[in-house]
Amino acid sequence: MKVGGLFAGIGGIELGFKKAGFDISWANEIDKNACITYRHNHKHTLFEKDLNDLQPHEVEKIDILTGGFPCQAFSIAGYQKGFRDDRGNVFFRILDFIDELEPQVVFLENVKNLVGHDKGKTFERILYELEDVRKYTVKHKVLNSCEYGGVPQNRERIYIVAFKDKNVASKFTFPKEKKLTKKVTDLFDDTADEKFYYTKSRYYKQLKEEMQNKDTVYQWRRVYVRENKSKLCPTLTANMGTGGHNVPLIIDKKDIRKLTPRECARFQGFPDTFKFPEKLANSALYKQVGNSVTVPVIEAIAREIKKAFCV
Ligand SMILES: C[S@@+](CC[C@H](N)C(=O)[O-])C[C@H]1O[C@@H](n2cnc3c(N)ncnc32)[C@H](O)[C@@H]1O
Repeated sequence: MKVGGLFAGIGGIELGFKKAGFDISWANEIDKNACITYRHNHKHTLFEKDLNDLQPHEVEKIDILTGGFPCQAFSIAGYQKGFRDDRGNVFFRILDFIDELEPQVVFLENVKNLVGHDKGKTFERILYELEDVRKYTVKHKVLNSCEYGGVPQNRERIYIVAFKDKNVASKFTFPKEKKLTKKVTDLFDDTADEKFYYTKSRYYKQLKEEMQNKDTVYQWRRVYVRENKSKLCPTLTANMGTGGHNVPLIIDKKDIRKLTPRECARFQGFPDTFKFPEKLANSALYKQVGNSVTVPVIEAIAREIKKAFCV
């Protein structure tokens, strides 16, 4: 079955589907740097442009449409009257692609609080558009990467899987939990390049006092360090590489440093064969990895989608 990817970023969703045995036909992404990393790792067509400028009839027909779309507020006021008062919202552009391509499956990923976003109105509208208007059968679940992806990262995301055929939908279940065998330290390199160390930071003294455990990923929160007591890596975020917020910090054999982009990618379940372009700044790589998905979680769901079509 063929997959088309919207909001592709560096292609974590595409990689998960590929690992589960699907063919990726094409993807779309607007961010120049994300496209550089994408092309470094994937061979299929990447439309580098604003989704609003990509026409649904321009792309090849696919069976599965995917997208980890940006979450923006949109109102439900008026939708029962068929109004589309939220044209600027990219979710409605996804609907244009669904209408043209009529995929068997629509796979969406988002932050956990999509359900509570704008007092529940956002999610209600999404369900209304997929179920009531387009007659898809929708299943959704919040999964934590440390419980379903085999990686020691605390990352809760909502996964929405919509099926055109309700018989196929009835055969689909979300993957079962799998035991976490990896510790955070298993994903650390022994040492890293000098630039990742905080030895010369004006906060070094404070960090030395507050960071004591070598088996912990700490998180710098602007002026203090938060310790993750559950021995998991805190949710990696797009802003972790810029400014002083959400930076994941560890103590390695040498000293205090941030996790490298490569280590962050491991916490997202990317294999070390996934390549980072040398010409990109680390800040861009942190953003790309933080914006991405936990690949093994996607793969596990994609395998269940495949099973639902086979049984
Ligand atoms: C949450 S990230 C998804 C990352 C992706 N799942 C991955 O594995 O890397 C959302 C992506 O949507 C892209 N995006 C936002 N608005 C867009 C638009 N109008 N057209 C195309 N891409 C857009 C952003 O640049 C970003 O890379």
